[in-house]
Amino acid sequence: MSAKIQSLRGFNDILPEQTALWRRLFEAVQQVMDAYGYREIKLPLLESTDLFRRSVGEATDIVEKEMFSFVDREKASISLRPEGTAGCVRAGIENGLLHNQQQRLWYQGPMFRHERPQAGRYRQFHQVGLEAYGMLGPDVDVEILALCARLWKRLGLNDIRLEINSLGTPETRLRFRDALVEYLSARADRLDEDSKRRLHTNPLRVLDSKDESTRAVLLHAPKLADCLDAESREHFAAVLAGLDALSIDYVINPNLVRGLDYYSRTTFEWTTDQLGAQGTVCGGGRYDGLVSLLGGGEVPAIGFAMGIERLILLMQQQAQLPDVGSPQVYFCWLGDAAFARAAQLAEQLRDAGLRVQLNAGGGAFKAQMKRADRSGAGLALILGEQELAQGVVQVKSLRGGEPQTEVAWTELVSGLQARLAGPVSA
Ligand code: HAM
Repeated sequence: MSAKIQSLRGFNDILPEQTALWRRLFEAVQQVMDAYGYREIKLPLLESTDLFRRSVGEATDIVEKEMFSFVDREKASISLRPEGTAGCVRAGIENGLLHNQQQRLWYQGPMFRHERPQAGRYRQFHQVGLEAYGMLGPDVDVEILALCARLWKRLGLNDIRLEINSLGTPETRLRFRDALVEYLSARADRLDEDSKRRLHTNPLRVLDSKDESTRAVLLHAPKLADCLDAESREHFAAVLAGLDALSIDYVINPNLVRGLDYYSRTTFEWTTDQLGAQGTVCGGGRYDGLVSLLGGGEVPAIGFAMGIERLILLMQQQAQLPDVGSPQVYFCWLGDAAFARAAQLAEQLRDAGLRVQLNAGGGAFKAQMKRADRSGAGLALILGEQELAQGVVQVKSLRGGEPQTEVAWTELVSGLQARLAGPVSA
């Protein structure tokens, strides 16, 4: 016997029970994106590895150790996208979407990172991402945060907190980086191993360390806020004022540096305490330098991405029940002659917008009724030889205790519509 084939670690099946919640989430996403004038863009899952090296950054965890990269048949190195921003910028430049114009774009789909899987962290996961181009001012920063807040509200999600910071300009960061490296190098013996390594590769990431000893050292480290240039400071103050004006609560987190290299000025994360270690449901920020780094012009940009699985976990935790899209009507039929008529009637009902499951795979009456019950439908229709001869079907309630009724074929659509709209509807 051959070995059983199983899914890859960190690659999950999303079963119908869950896809119902996904559908609810995406309906809300679509509505909110429309409400703010963002248009959807669809991007490839595979891109050249260089794209991510140059944008996400050579020394980031993502590029260093988490990408699914391959050499293809033409001997080029390609990678499954670990995130969507790089591809979006590439597509924007390539299709002339970014030159001298503004764009409000969003995308969704699977991303791939070779991380250690745990609750809320997978190797294939899904993001909804948003990117805004050509707007330099703090107004658009406020806009996209308001959009997030509206989405949480629409989904009925409470307890998501906004943490926000400013990284300043690349020059600010460089100045801060030097000061930080100098301070940390003098205290390297008290840093954890990961932070020691990062001190040389990506020192700002040391600020993210969860290690107690490292955190104690960081307490008195130079602060990014003290290195900010005047313009970044003003920009940040205006973003905060905009949030205040819209009554969007936030916490300033001076250590919020994010794990990707392209950020400048505003960075933010929406976090929750309800998902354990993987509590960040959305992260993003400004990346004013990335378009030119990838060969486009000087185009200011800002965006974010949210983790769909984490949002679904939150929805589940808050006991949101999926609307599993059950049929309203299950149609039982008995005898070959009844089948053709049942199929025609089922089509008529679907034409009228009803959700109808027509029995398939044969079965005695009892077996069919069992399936009807399991389908989640509120009503069963029954068409046997006798009904066929009389031009009627039996309508039986599967949930309430209403009596069984007989309805003529000609009255079926209106009869069912009335019944489904009634007080004890299916
Ligand atoms: P990111 O912080 O790497 O940012 O990812 C955004 C979100 O994706 C995270 O907050 C989290 O909810 C989700 N996520 C990340 N990795 C995983 C994983 N392994 N399993 C489950 N969920 C995960 C970006 O990707 C940037 N491209 C965001 C952005 C857009 N910045 C500017 N524009």
